[in-house]
Amino acid sequence: MAVSQQVFLRDAMRRLNLTRDVFAARIGVKRRALDTWLLPEGSQEFRGMPEVVQRFVTEIVENETLLEKYAQNSQRGPLRDRIAIHGKHQLISVDQFTRESVEELVRIADMMQPIARRQKVSRVLEGAVLGNLFFEASTRTRVSFGAAFCRLGGSVCDTTGFTFSSMAKGESIYDTSRVMSGYVDAMVIRHPEQGSVAEFAAATNIPVVNGGDGAGEHPSQALLDLYTILTEFSRLGKLLDGAHIAITGDLKYGRTVHSLMKMLALYKGLTFTLISPPGLEMPADIIEQVALRGNHVIEQSNSMTSIKGADVIYATRVQKERFSDEQLEGYSADFQINKALLDQYGKEDVIIMHPLPRDSRDDAHDLSIDLNHDPRLAIFRQADNGIPVRMAIFAVLLGVENLVQHSMRDVTWSPPSHIGPEDAVFHGMY
Ligand code: NCD
Repeated sequence: MAVSQQVFLRDAMRRLNLTRDVFAARIGVKRRALDTWLLPEGSQEFRGMPEVVQRFVTEIVENETLLEKYAQNSQRGPLRDRIAIHGKHQLISVDQFTRESVEELVRIADMMQPIARRQKVSRVLEGAVLGNLFFEASTRTRVSFGAAFCRLGGSVCDTTGFTFSSMAKGESIYDTSRVMSGYVDAMVIRHPEQGSVAEFAAATNIPVVNGGDGAGEHPSQALLDLYTILTEFSRLGKLLDGAHIAITGDLKYGRTVHSLMKMLALYKGLTFTLISPPGLEMPADIIEQVALRGNHVIEQSNSMTSIKGADVIYATRVQKERFSDEQLEGYSADFQINKALLDQYGKEDVIIMHPLPRDSRDDAHDLSIDLNHDPRLAIFRQADNGIPVRMAIFAVLLGVENLVQHSMRDVTWSPPSHIGPEDAVFHGMY
């Protein structure tokens, strides 16, 4: 580089007309990392930016088309209008996002971190009530949506399972949705049938979030998974463009991986290695949609040895509840991701993800607990990211994202410095 790193980056931001926050999100790095690269060389906190970032930024500023694409567009309206579906502020599918809008949501999630980490409190949703309607099993999604709403100052009303709802008496989705809308200001819905949450959403004008519709989609999980990958990559000095993502397990019925693969396809030049037992392959329509988006490589495999070279391994559970005729209680032993497999085939800086729950029974051969002390295991950091990301979703859908920053006050209690005993040093709070 002929000029200093600081001059080079400042020049790029000026030419793109981007603030530090937006620039960091646009090139897929954390704001904190960018700040250290922008310090004068020789200062104590200064860090050299990875060569891959320098090449990427050079490529953007030297190419007119890319420059235009990455530059700030002043014509943009509120994010909730840009991701709206049928003119409504609802989140049903990851197809509602562009790379630009998803990165804006990532930035809002970043802004939520002091609240998610219990350093600050906010009351921007004071008086608002969330209806959490879960007609399928859930721990993380239901509780983290509820906690996210509460941490913004709102309150939550829950219903769980069919047994204790009027659906057990034959009530339709239309009636349930219309009635609930008179009681609450936003709804999160999980339901075993694909397409059912869109049906709920069509019957109301209030914000509805898809918390998982059968084997269909799980957009909030994909957003927190993307957020996790960007956060982990930023720590490791990697870019998502050009990365190698291995997705393993029940890719046929796993809705998290359907949403995730489509969302990651918003980036450039990814290699997807899809590893599943025979019969549980990724649906063809999703592969076609991703292939149409451009220069991605998509490989399919039935062997775990194909994790070789991956930057991310995303494991999933057998979705037993969606099997009608076939009986599959778990994976075969050679399908398990464990320490021995990683020692032989895993990169040293690979990150291991799983939407959870993992099936910890011995015969399930789901992601092994023998990796619990391994810092590459990102599953609990990933689950924790559900809070800032779901706070960002609510803030955007209810139109309060610009009020959050100024609404923050210090907490009055002492949060723990680390959440779990196995947490790596870069996990959690600081
Ligand atoms: C997933 C789901 O419900 O789709 N769980 C989650 O929301 N984190 C994955 C699963 O149940 O296996």
